[in-house]
Amino acid sequence: MKVLLFGASGNIGRAIAQELLTRGHTVTGVTRRGTVDGVDHDQFTSTAGDATDPTTVASLADGHDAVACAVGPAVGREDDREIIVGTARSLIEGLRKAGVRRLVTIGGAGSLEVAPGKRVLDDPNFPAMWRANAEAQSEALGLYRDVTDLDWTYISPAAHIGEGPRTGAFRVGGDQLLTDDNGKSDISYADYAVAFVDELERSTAVRRRITVAY
Ligand SMILES: NC(=O)c1ccc[n+]([C@@H]2O[C@H](COP(=O)([O-])OP(=O)(O)OC[C@H]3O[C@@H](n4cnc5c(N)ncnc54)[C@H](OP(=O)(O)O)[C@@H]3O)[C@@H](O)[C@H]2O)c1
Repeated sequence: MKVLLFGASGNIGRAIAQELLTRGHTVTGVTRRGTVDGVDHDQFTSTAGDATDPTTVASLADGHDAVACAVGPAVGREDDREIIVGTARSLIEGLRKAGVRRLVTIGGAGSLEVAPGKRVLDDPNFPAMWRANAEAQSEALGLYRDVTDLDWTYISPAAHIGEGPRTGAFRVGGDQLLTDDNGKSDISYADYAVAFVDELERSTAVRRRITVAY
């Protein structure tokens, strides 16, 4: 596949780029800065572009089989909701214009349910620093859920995602937070990327939210 990946220089975006390239796909990595440190491969090119601009999205998406998104606000700008909600709006409009149907996007864990009708972010102890980001991700999911003419998939990480090995051993769930026997909800960037690329290749969760955790 030829994949256009927004946010390719991020923690999660870089892992997705590496996983795609390892599996033989061709990747165009997009960031505002236009450079992606640490990804060096003859099937990878990087380019500058703003994911919140639908005209940019449409022109960059042209000629790609699928669009992937791992965009998020920079460190210190965690309360910038518009990056996430604006990117969702722009991807929807831009992909329609480009005639590219397939979109797989990073999501947030905050909108996952911990009990019927109770989301992770409804907990008053939810970290204040991440509340705006989680709410924006939840709003973005709502926008995608109204879309019936694109083949989108929204993939929420576990509650915690970070550095760790690529094991290929994880669970994939739906709208409920996945926790292990100790109540922990965890996934490595590398294993999240495996699940993300599995979904891009297999399209088993079209127009659905899924989540991935150990
Ligand atoms: N448990 C959870 O729910 C959880 C945990 C972690 C992450 N997440 C979600 O995943 C997102 C990404 O996380 P991360 O740690 O990988 O973020 P990150 O390391 O900050 O990476 C963000 C990426 O987005 C790019 N970017 C930002 N604005 C852009 C724009 N307008 N157009 C194009 N590219 C843009 C950045 O590059 P430039 O700055 O060069 O544009 C960078 O490549 C988070 O913001 C959050 O919503 C959820």
